[in-house]
Amino acid sequence: MIDVERRGSAAIVTLNNPPVNAIGQGLRKALAEAFASVACDNEIERVILTGINGTFAAGADAREFDTTPEPPHLPDVIRQIESCGKPVIAAIDGPALGGGYELALACQYRIATSQSQIGLPEVTLGVVPGAGGTQRLPRLVGIATAVQLISEGRIVKGSEALNLGMIDALAKDPLSAALDLDIAKINITPPLSAQPSPDENAEAIQSALDVAKKRKRGQNAPLRAIALVEQASKTDFDTGTAVERETFLDLRQQDQARALRHIFFAERGAKIPAHLKNVKPREIKSAIVVGGGTMGSGIAYALNASGIPVHIVETDAHAIERATHNIDTLFKSAIKRGLLTETQATAQRKTLKIGEGFENLPTANIAIEAVIEDMATKKEVFASLEKNLPAHAIFATNTSYLDINLLAAELENPDRVLGLHFFSPAHIMKLLEIVEGTATSDNALATAFILARKLRKIPVLAGVCDGFIGNRILARYREVADILLLDGALPWQIDDAMVAFGYAMGPYMAQDLSGLDIAYANRKRLAPTRDPKRRYVTISDRMVEEGRLGRKASVGWYRYPGGGGAVLDPLLEDLIVEEAHFAKVTRREFNDDEIRDRLLAAMINEACNILDEGIARNATDIDLVTVHGYGFPCWRGGLMHHAASIGFDTILKQVEEYAAEDPVLWVASPRFRTLAETR
Ligand code: COA
Ligand code: NAD
Repeated sequence: MIDVERRGSAAIVTLNNPPVNAIGQGLRKALAEAFASVACDNEIERVILTGINGTFAAGADAREFDTTPEPPHLPDVIRQIESCGKPVIAAIDGPALGGGYELALACQYRIATSQSQIGLPEVTLGVVPGAGGTQRLPRLVGIATAVQLISEGRIVKGSEALNLGMIDALAKDPLSAALDLDIAKINITPPLSAQPSPDENAEAIQSALDVAKKRKRGQNAPLRAIALVEQASKTDFDTGTAVERETFLDLRQQDQARALRHIFFAERGAKIPAHLKNVKPREIKSAIVVGGGTMGSGIAYALNASGIPVHIVETDAHAIERATHNIDTLFKSAIKRGLLTETQATAQRKTLKIGEGFENLPTANIAIEAVIEDMATKKEVFASLEKNLPAHAIFATNTSYLDINLLAAELENPDRVLGLHFFSPAHIMKLLEIVEGTATSDNALATAFILARKLRKIPVLAGVCDGFIGNRILARYREVADILLLDGALPWQIDDAMVAFGYAMGPYMAQDLSGLDIAYANRKRLAPTRDPKRRYVTISDRMVEEGRLGRKASVGWYRYPGGGGAVLDPLLEDLIVEEAHFAKVTRREFNDDEIRDRLLAAMINEACNILDEGIARNATDIDLVTVHGYGFPCWRGGLMHHAASIGFDTILKQVEEYAAEDPVLWVASPRFRTLAETR
């Protein structure tokens, strides 16, 4: 786990625990032994701490967070490094994160590559740095920078780390630079633990608190981290680190940290399924995107940003103009956010073309359609693609709800069709549902998983049904919300209840953002097959019919005067009361807990149906979908993790109570019953 090599008077201590040098008990022990031996070797004049294969260290081994900590503990190993009696230089390549960067903070000098990823991201796992990071970093860079980095869990590249004072130098080859370093010429300061407390900075602390309350609302760890950084300026190092350790040990076993760990490992587990591992995927050297609207432009941009030349197909000159505007806006925004330089954007933009119709298409191994949600139009698109692309090209649809098997049926090779369900905005949202039709070939699926990786998306395999995993759950969420609306709640009350639970916005505010018309069209499509005994609330339909389409119309469930922020609309209450009157419903009050419980139960029950039907492979995939596609609070671990933490039996009891009122709407899934009995 640790290699020690002598080069002249230097000892090179290399962390060697692939794949990411996670700092577990074995590595800590080996590190302590290595430093014990170099400390007593009088011929060693400098020690270089580095990592193997372009990785310094990804941090504490998060798999150990569920077990009792075993010695030697990282804070003690770090103390040992600080007091080994020799100058220790960190030579950083790749990630130096969490405990990895805390090790670097034990060194007197830090050299990194410009592309290294450096930071203390522990709050993203629901904990705080537990090996002195909250006390050493403020001593190195001051309270303002430290509190921002630690409370946001921000990871910076080597070049920014240098500007912030987190490292001392940049080098292409940090190990050689560390060997060549003239120790006499650099300022070898006492270890950070021996340095005075940094100056207090109440303003920086308040600003970090404001940001945390907004961006990490509901989460404990950022607030605790801020308190620890503040403490660095108020107490001595030993007191600060003792409180830090106590906080770390307390947080790591709390529900939020467990939930965030669950999501962390779920994200990393979202890989190509085992049965496809030996399938050779197709190489995607270029792509066609059909439709350059909201989704098509985002998908094309994402493909293009990953280095794939893209050709967008549009219908006519006017649509080309609109698509060009959409794409140019995405490039402008990337430049504004510092993600691309003007020169990079110009070069990249040249590989993204927009043209009319399907004739003279450049060849491609994949075409992704993102035209309007209409079966006939999508079928026409696939027929045109079939005529104009090679027989091996994969045809993907970004449909939200439509039956992929029907779309594929008329093609000569239906095995080339699958769903690639991106989320809006497609170049930002991490989730990608890969939908497998009955005919979809393994090769098409394997290619989709490799493409997802290239796009840095989180792929989740889904089967064919109305809405796949995510939109099917969303449909139940909205259905029960509308029933609550008719029975007595108001949109803003429902929104507030879900925001209090941890969603960034409630279902009605979210509908206003995405537009009410798509769901309306879907309800109309499903109308002929709807169970007439099932309650159907017409309020949402009436909204669309009255032109209340959401933000884009400046009015939806809220009003947006002058295109600005949402304001409540008292007229809407009249509309709802009127609809309840027509439906002969006597409205009653619902409290926020009841609203939340009903909405969650509806979603959990549907998720169980989805599992029963094999639409999702496992509960973890549902967690990924709900967190990364639908704003379910990550610190609750996703829908099914949350359900397990509440107890399936408790939620089943609620469903049974609701079923007593409405046995058509509330039918407990068989999987729900099994889970309730076993967990
Ligand atoms: N503890 C335990 N295992 C870890 C880990 C950690 N801190 N960080 C990564 N791993 C594991 C992953 O689970 C994955 O395991 P698998 O191959 O069995 O699926 C493997 O290391 C590779 O990780 P992955 O994220 O797929 O590699 P990457 O090259 O895309 O990214 C990092 C590497 C280091 C940037 C990324 O893993 C990361 O951000 N890690 C966490 C950093 C962190 O939060 N540290 C603070 C810990 S308190
Ligand atoms: P949109 O109306 O913004 O864009 C559709 C585009 O397709 C338009 O630019 C139109 O000119 C073009 N088009 C229509 N017919 C065409 C044809 N025959 N050939 C070429 N181009 C054609 O729609 P959108 O919101 O981008 O949705 C596209 C698809 O993505 C739909 O299937 C939708 O259900 C799905 N989807 C939408 C979202 C979302 O949030 N908007 C999210 C996920 C999936």
